[in-house]
Amino acid sequence: MRTTPLSQKLVGLAADATIVVAHRGDGGSFPENTLPAFRAAIHEGAGVIEFDIRQTQDGILVCIHDEALDRTSDSATVLGREKVRVQDVAFSQLAELDAGGWKDPRFAGTRIPSLEAGLEVIQDGSIAMIEHKAGDPAVLVDLLRRMDLVDDVLVQSFDWEWLEQVHALEPELTIGALGGYGEGKHLTDAMLPEIAATGAALVHWDYRSIREQDVRKLHALGYLVCVFTIDAPEDYRRAVEMGIDLITTNEPGRLRDFLARNR
Ligand code: G3P
Ligand code: CA
Repeated sequence: MRTTPLSQKLVGLAADATIVVAHRGDGGSFPENTLPAFRAAIHEGAGVIEFDIRQTQDGILVCIHDEALDRTSDSATVLGREKVRVQDVAFSQLAELDAGGWKDPRFAGTRIPSLEAGLEVIQDGSIAMIEHKAGDPAVLVDLLRRMDLVDDVLVQSFDWEWLEQVHALEPELTIGALGGYGEGKHLTDAMLPEIAATGAALVHWDYRSIREQDVRKLHALGYLVCVFTIDAPEDYRRAVEMGIDLITTNEPGRLRDFLARNR
């Protein structure tokens, strides 16, 4: 298990109170993975802001979850066809799309942000947890170096081979190994060397699949433990009782208030 100054800072913060991770920004109330969602998450006091990245045809990293643009933009109308993929459009085309109106008309005109724009907002009041969905590790490392943010962000992925690549390119990065997506997808001992090979300081597991024994094992190995994605107070309570360090939620304000009431 690798530690970094950022992972040590998070260990210190988590010892004081469970850290609120805002999922896709304040994704419950704002259009996910957009600047308004990131600003709202900062306003709600989220210690960490999680979001997803993909790469456009012309090599720009952008904040978006799905491979196709349809669910979170008006791409079908503007581009005239359905299921257009992020990787098949230039950033200039993507910047024309409305990524807010689908959530609520009051967010119409919100754009899909570049990773650079997202980081500029998040670094002002929180810590970025960048989830790789697609894109070249070297492009990400170059951007983080240019912005002088290598020591200030978390980079995570379900793709542990991609994490190994990014870790080899920039060993100072703080890495999170994502896993356990779905029900009953437990951590196994066979996974531990694979997780270690990613250079991870943090393990981020599906709440539905994590067990108390997994949390104990990961803590004994020195990992920070985060769970995704829970919004119900009874789940917050169980996660805190299990000793989880960070909780990913669509409702950062609700989790903040829960933690304040249950100190
Ligand atoms: O950060 C963990 C969580 O975001 C993973 O699931 O599908 O929301 O990216 P997903
Ligand atoms: Ca994500």
